[in-house]
Amino acid sequence: MRIDFISMSVTTFIQRRFHFGQLPFLTFLVACLLCAIIYLQLQRVKQQHQTINQRVDFLRHREDSAFEKTQDFIKRNQEHYKMVIYEEKFCPHNGSCDLIKPFIHYESRQMLAPSYGVSACVIYKNFSTVLTSIICYLYDILRYQEKVKEMMKDTYNHRLCMKDNEYHSFNIRDRMTPKTAEKWTNYLIVREPLERFISGFVNKCILDVVNRDKPCYGCDENITCVMEKQYQSLKTMSNNNKAARKHTVEDAHFGPQSWHCELRAHYLDYKILQYSPAKTEELLEELLTDFEEFGVPLSVTDDIREQVLGGKTFHATFDTPERIHYTKVVEESPYLKELLVKMFYYDYVFFDFPLPVLEIDKTSDS
Ligand SMILES: *[C@@H]1O[C@H](CO)[C@@H](O)[C@H](O)[C@H]1NC(C)=O
Ligand SMILES: *[C@@H]1O[C@H](CO)[C@@H](O)[C@H](O)[C@H]1NC(C)=O
Ligand SMILES: *[C@@H]1O[C@H](CO)[C@@H](O)[C@H](O)[C@H]1NC(C)=O
Repeated sequence: MRIDFISMSVTTFIQRRFHFGQLPFLTFLVACLLCAIIYLQLQRVKQQHQTINQRVDFLRHREDSAFEKTQDFIKRNQEHYKMVIYEEKFCPHNGSCDLIKPFIHYESRQMLAPSYGVSACVIYKNFSTVLTSIICYLYDILRYQEKVKEMMKDTYNHRLCMKDNEYHSFNIRDRMTPKTAEKWTNYLIVREPLERFISGFVNKCILDVVNRDKPCYGCDENITCVMEKQYQSLKTMSNNNKAARKHTVEDAHFGPQSWHCELRAHYLDYKILQYSPAKTEELLEELLTDFEEFGVPLSVTDDIREQVLGGKTFHATFDTPERIHYTKVVEESPYLKELLVKMFYYDYVFFDFPLPVLEIDKTSDS
């Protein structure tokens, strides 16, 4: 009875309202349909944002303040989807997470040039030795020009600035005021995780193995073995066990980059630049342009440019057959790629490198 009444009144309403013919009525229906589709789409986008926000809350909860203000970063990141999927796969909500945690305090090697308000935190890799020399140059230009004839040889244990402007704490800046610049610019140079790992593997497990006891966990040149052992070592260290954070060659070169430079507290205080040996020139150009802005004389930046790019350090050894071979080995093995993601997931996320595509992507796309 009641339903009859309602449907009757609806019909009358429609008839009254649309007595002027069928065409407008159809148009009205199509419009409704379009509205409904748009509405549903908007809901989907909203839902997706909610999922991401929940993820961020989840991350933040797990790692406290380090994740503050990173929501913005994550929103900008094109990789949302992969991130959510990988998080779900490797960190189910029951408390067991296979991803190596980010922002563990491992070490912090700070180089300062207070005159120009320039500082750099360096993570082991080739460009870091060059950057150390550059900051030393800016630290005291006259002394550097007088004492150092070849910049590219001012490295390792023979470097001029050893301990002069080198610290282990970010907060040392509080005690110095930059002279010519308004504020500090703190550089952090990061590398694509796979490229960095392969570079470390070739250098430390294949080329530079003499004088080291059981290098690379005694795996010889077996990259699967090295990755498995390294994963276990990182897992142990990240289990909140300070004593286990020993400084081995392996951990220093294969540990996550987010474990360096006090990033837990200072992630947002760095100007983070990506480095790849093939792009040394671009990176150097970016740095020198900044330095000129901070008042470093052109004669000095020109000198740096010439000395760094003139040598063959950066061209000669990049595309070696070993590198190409081992990169392919990892890229072609679903197992090793997964291990790579487990180790360096947060380096990919926080330094803005695209995550490797894992097999699980395919199933979740359908
Ligand atoms: C959590 O769940 C995963 C599968 O969803 C399972 O493999 C793992 O053993 C569980 N861990 C704990 C601590 O319950
Ligand atoms: C490399 O190491 C893995 C894991 O330790 C092992 O399963 C595999 O057999 C090794 N491969 C070779 C060629 O020794
Ligand atoms: C990187 O450093 C290693 C030594 O740690 C050296 O053998 C290698 O030639 C360097 N590579 C480049 C590209 O400078």
